[in-house]
Amino acid sequence: MPDTLTITDNRTGRSYELAIKDDTVRAADLRKVRVAAGDVGLMAYDPALVNTAACRSTITFIDGDKGILRYRGYPIEQLAEQSSFLETAWLVIDGELPTASELLAFTAAIHDNRVPPARIAGLFDGLADDPHPMGALIASFGALGTFYPESHNISDPAVRRRQVHRIIAQAPALAAYAARARKGQPLVPPREGLSFAGNFLYMLQATPGQTFTPNPVLERALDILFILHADHEQNCSTFAMRSVGSSNTDPYSSVAAAAAALYGPLHGGANEAVLRMLHGIGSLDKVPAFIKSVEAGDGRLMGFGHRIYKSYDPRARIIKRVADEVFEVTGKNPLLEIALELERIALQDEYFVSRKLYPNVDFYSGLIYEAMGFPTDMFTVLFAIPRTAGWLAQWEEMLRDPETKIVRPRQIYVGADKRDYIPVDGR
Ligand code: ACO
Repeated sequence: MPDTLTITDNRTGRSYELAIKDDTVRAADLRKVRVAAGDVGLMAYDPALVNTAACRSTITFIDGDKGILRYRGYPIEQLAEQSSFLETAWLVIDGELPTASELLAFTAAIHDNRVPPARIAGLFDGLADDPHPMGALIASFGALGTFYPESHNISDPAVRRRQVHRIIAQAPALAAYAARARKGQPLVPPREGLSFAGNFLYMLQATPGQTFTPNPVLERALDILFILHADHEQNCSTFAMRSVGSSNTDPYSSVAAAAAALYGPLHGGANEAVLRMLHGIGSLDKVPAFIKSVEAGDGRLMGFGHRIYKSYDPRARIIKRVADEVFEVTGKNPLLEIALELERIALQDEYFVSRKLYPNVDFYSGLIYEAMGFPTDMFTVLFAIPRTAGWLAQWEEMLRDPETKIVRPRQIYVGADKRDYIPVDGR
């Protein structure tokens, strides 16, 4: 059976044979389908890239129908159970689990790069009063690049690797600075002897001069959440990273662009939207009416639905378990009851069942973050910190791919035909 697709252009009666590889045809092969010799040829129209593979990748595998997520072949459940965020970050970037000495060296590199340049602190003074921490984080990623002009040399693998270390290592400090600066609190630099997640909690929650030891259960829960958010193949923010990076932009600017894409409520901003929704619903008895309003088209059930998962998001399942452990320490988040009831009703409701809408990663993560004392508008920041690993892994993969070119989609022009300019007094 030949691996080809034969198509007939009924405008001309001509047939064409397109090669099929990996269940894919090359959109560029459609160009040979043309009516006259000078035509540009047929294009594929796919406005949200819902059925277009834009790269070949070895990083993350998702089977959305079966609810499977793997980084470099390793099931997310095993990584969440047995790995740490830094080990997972190495795996995502490098492709293999690190040996003991590789992990030691990587941990040391992150440790050595974890303090942002001193002048970055001043950046936060220049923002509006009480800025949204995601806006501040996006600005600080861009600003960070100005301290490392070598980062423009993206063709040198050693230079690239240094920036990867700096961005992952400094993301927690930038995030903590963004949160503290808005409250007028003094910035707390990282401390010796704490883990990646522990140091973030310290920089965010410690009072200078007082001892602060992160609760080990909460520290581990945060580390697991970081593992779950490390990568998720070609989503909106990763595409932004690859798209901006394809013009050979430095990684700081590309990460700022990716973070901006993440900020939106349909992407990483959904965890914040979930909490606002749960607060808005307010009590268990209001859940059925809320579900009815969603069915009537009055807003969405935030934290439900996914472009790829058409069954339970495996990350949501893990987060539900972690939530129980966190609530043992913090006390139960009262909104949990509302979330569980929303899930119970939605999973039996025709509207949600027929559209295959299940809880996604954001449905329960916000409940944990709130119980741990993070303000609601920090939630997307908590997503961005570990996702730097995925963005940078995807960027590195893109730069090594011989097929990489600057991203430049086509359009179907549907605007006005040629017309002559009319001076303003004649309009
Ligand atoms: N609540 C109610 N209805 C929904 C929801 C939802 N959360 N999600 C999808 N639908 C409905 C749509 O109205 C549509 O119905 P229709 O066929 O009658 O018009 C159908 O399901 C398909 O929805 P689309 O918008 O076409 O699905 P798409 O794949 O484009 O969107 C998305 C995916 C953006 C995640 C969507 O499900 C959504 O808005 N969810 C809520 C926001 C959210 O939780 N985002 C986080 C995603 S995970 C992440 O980014 C980390």
